[in-house]
Amino acid sequence: MKLPESQVAVLQAASANDARSIERLADETDQKPETVTGAAFELESAGLVAVEESTDETVELTDEGREYVEDALPEVRLYETALEAGADEEPAQMGRVIGQSGLEGPQVDIALSNYARKGYGTIESGEITADPDADPESDAEASALAALDGGEPVEDESVLDQLESRGLVSIAESTVRSVTLTDEGVTALMEGVETAETVGQLTPEMLTSGQWRDVEFAEYNVEADAEEVTGGKTHILRQTANRVKDTLVGMGFEEMEGPHADADFWINDALFMPQDHPARTHWDRFALSNPTEIGDLPEDLVERVENAHHEGVGEDGEGYHSPWSEDFARAIALRGHTTSLSMRYLSGHEIGDLEPPQRFFSVEKVYRNDTLDPTHLLEFFQIEGWVMAEDLSVRDLMGTFEEFYEQFGITDLRYKPHYNPYTEPSFELFGEHPTTGELVEVGNSGMFREEVLRPLGVDCDVMAWGLSLERLLMLMYGFEDIRDIHGTLCDLELLRETEVLH
Ligand code: PHE
Repeated sequence: MKLPESQVAVLQAASANDARSIERLADETDQKPETVTGAAFELESAGLVAVEESTDETVELTDEGREYVEDALPEVRLYETALEAGADEEPAQMGRVIGQSGLEGPQVDIALSNYARKGYGTIESGEITADPDADPESDAEASALAALDGGEPVEDESVLDQLESRGLVSIAESTVRSVTLTDEGVTALMEGVETAETVGQLTPEMLTSGQWRDVEFAEYNVEADAEEVTGGKTHILRQTANRVKDTLVGMGFEEMEGPHADADFWINDALFMPQDHPARTHWDRFALSNPTEIGDLPEDLVERVENAHHEGVGEDGEGYHSPWSEDFARAIALRGHTTSLSMRYLSGHEIGDLEPPQRFFSVEKVYRNDTLDPTHLLEFFQIEGWVMAEDLSVRDLMGTFEEFYEQFGITDLRYKPHYNPYTEPSFELFGEHPTTGELVEVGNSGMFREEVLRPLGVDCDVMAWGLSLERLLMLMYGFEDIRDIHGTLCDLELLRETEVLH
């Protein structure tokens, strides 16, 4: 029998009563594992060997996992520092305990997000408690890390899953194959096998000389293991943003554009936000140091806005009895909402005066000096929108939300009365998280007040909203932590595998 060289080698190295792994055969025949795999499959389809497959799981510590074997898990370090601070007797100040723990950067987040989950204590309104009965010695995740570090297996799948989702271990699955000679294979070897010349690549010379007629071609093995290629792709957040834009355009909206860093005038003053409003302190805004001020503000509009702040609008209007300064209004900061764009457009400053009916939207980034947690980031995408028309009501607002969210499969919206200085009435919007069932706030909305609209020169109704794109994704795809899709802790697997539905 004539067989290609690689197959002859594998056949000779295989045994009838001892299943040999591809690796061992590769070693013994001095061929690459993929060549041996290909040859084994060929031999199998000729009935000369049997190939058995099983799946093997290898679990390895990541760099971060190894670091915690040495320094203990961040939540354990936090617990131990909290104990030292006496938090088992009386709640301690969280900032202080974190300072003393030596935890830094993302480790603080990691400690905080695992602390309560694992029963080390509670974290509430800036205070931390330590449960005296908690025992870091019996921390299942820490023990599993130590076992893996020592080369021992971990049986508990749920602990492994947890470690994997924390990025502390990587679990790789591979197919293990072993080869055994069949009776036919034994017979073939006894009768003798010879090496046939095989040709891997057809050349122009072979064609012209006619040699191709006499050679044996190597067969392709389309089942051979191939390296996994994970190419770049558009981030699911961007893909969903594009889908939101398409949806709104389909609903008759036009897109607004405008600066990320803008004058407080457009971000706050035009929205009838008093200059001494708590959200306008330097704690909450990202101010620009260069340039610090905007040059061109429409003077007559500034005057009307200032007037509204002092005296309100209409005959029995009420203003704020607090100082108003144009310098304050000129200061530039990163926008905390895209309602600054709505002000620019509604005022006529952007594309000229607008006659009702009009619908505008934007899906753009906003910046807030929030504390990072599973539902808050320092920057996020806001789906801003407004409709200008005669006689709008809250029903129109709710109907628009229902129509919009339905296209993303969300049909269980809830509303809660709310307060904004610039809308009356105002509503917060909630949707139900598909896996935890919790209510997630997805946006804020309302009807712009007269105090906003009159200075802008708008004399009909305007309903408006700012929705969070990230929270929409949470409801669509069920992830629980915004940081899974954004930033340094993001879950690459999730980003690769989530398909944005159209
Ligand atoms: N600016 C609001 C926010 O960021 C959203 C909003 C826009 C509310 C327009 C009412 C009207 O939460």
